[in-house]
Amino acid sequence: MEKISIEKHNQLKGEVIIPADKSISHRSIMIGSISRGETFIDNFLKSEDCLWTVDVFRKLGVEIIEQGENSYRINSDGCDSLRQPESELYFGNSGTGLRLACGILAGSSLSCVLTGDKSLSSRPMKRITLPLKMMGADIEGPDEAGHLPLRIRGRKLKGINYISPVSSAQIKSSLLLAGISASGSTSVTEPFKSRDHTENMLKAFGADIKIEGLKVTINPTGNLQAQHIRVPADISSAAFFIVAGLITGNSEIIIKDVGVNKTRTGLLDVLSQMGADINIIGKSPEAIEPLADICVKSSELKPFVIERNIIPRLIDEIPILMIAATQAQGTSLIKGAAELRLKETDRIESMSDGLSKMGAKIDVQGDNIYITGPTNLKGAQINSFSDHRTAMSFLIAGLVAEGTTEVKDTACIKTSFPNFFKKLMRVVA
Ligand code: S3P
Repeated sequence: MEKISIEKHNQLKGEVIIPADKSISHRSIMIGSISRGETFIDNFLKSEDCLWTVDVFRKLGVEIIEQGENSYRINSDGCDSLRQPESELYFGNSGTGLRLACGILAGSSLSCVLTGDKSLSSRPMKRITLPLKMMGADIEGPDEAGHLPLRIRGRKLKGINYISPVSSAQIKSSLLLAGISASGSTSVTEPFKSRDHTENMLKAFGADIKIEGLKVTINPTGNLQAQHIRVPADISSAAFFIVAGLITGNSEIIIKDVGVNKTRTGLLDVLSQMGADINIIGKSPEAIEPLADICVKSSELKPFVIERNIIPRLIDEIPILMIAATQAQGTSLIKGAAELRLKETDRIESMSDGLSKMGAKIDVQGDNIYITGPTNLKGAQINSFSDHRTAMSFLIAGLVAEGTTEVKDTACIKTSFPNFFKKLMRVVA
């Protein structure tokens, strides 16, 4: 089992290039694969999760050609050109890959079996199989909760008007992708707005899509048209370096070309509430998604309150915000973080386990989390529970902890951020 040890550091300096956005990389392969013509993807994230998506769409007969280090060219004749795969479709650790592909496959003419690793196999899929079945999908699983493996027998779907009980871009995207080839229009309304990369990309590829507040509607669209996509750096990966720069004394780092779509920047809003010294240098909106450079200096932090409505805009950043909270003067509160329990692991459990071992003052009451700082964290042996964001969060905590912090089971970091530790070591002075 891979493990990484880290010691306390006094300073972070320099410029960091963060790998590409995971959500946008998945979508670029999927939407490129069902669009007619040649789609070019630059700065694709070659992490394990996204490479499984490439593998799945190749198994579905799509020509996906590597062009240089992080670029792909996709040749497709559109939606109807997907071919019957000869084997199961394996999605590794990726909920996004699997849930979005379900939407595409449910309305196809193919019969497929979808599988994943141990963590993905234990995550609930009913949240997508239920509304897809309302659209007429034929999906079978081993149990009521919709666990893997899933067998999908593609067929013609009908549009529905779905009021989602949770804010989830994966649910919304799965239904919108199913809606492309359904009869009639498909609408999804969510309680609070989740990331809108699918809407942005589908619009750019020519889909008939309408956004009215929290409701998104797609009308059946003939063939989508291939495009050129440049994927920005992932703000969810940048988050680890942003917090590292804030909590490590005398630091100043610049993170280049980060995607700053406002459905993803809840982290920056919370850090501004904390009094963080962060400067965002916006760039002219490039193609489909906006970019910025983010400059971070070490800061005295105030505590935060995270209300339910902002959670979809920072869902993946809560673990690293919990580390930031241990260094703030006072009690921070995260309200109603139930969705965190359904990620690659139960992140409320994994984070409170490690934080308690490091001596942090954390109190979990149901789905509310209270953290009181500032605490001089102590190095400890930390279990990542095979979750990439838990593992990276504790390596950042290790930068300010006394002694050695050893994070066990760190191979999972490759699912979203290959070379994370190497990049971190480059900026520690
Ligand atoms: C994602 C959506 C979020 C997020 C995940 C990526 C996406 O999940 O946690 O890492 O790319 O659509 P939910 O939709 O389940 O909230």
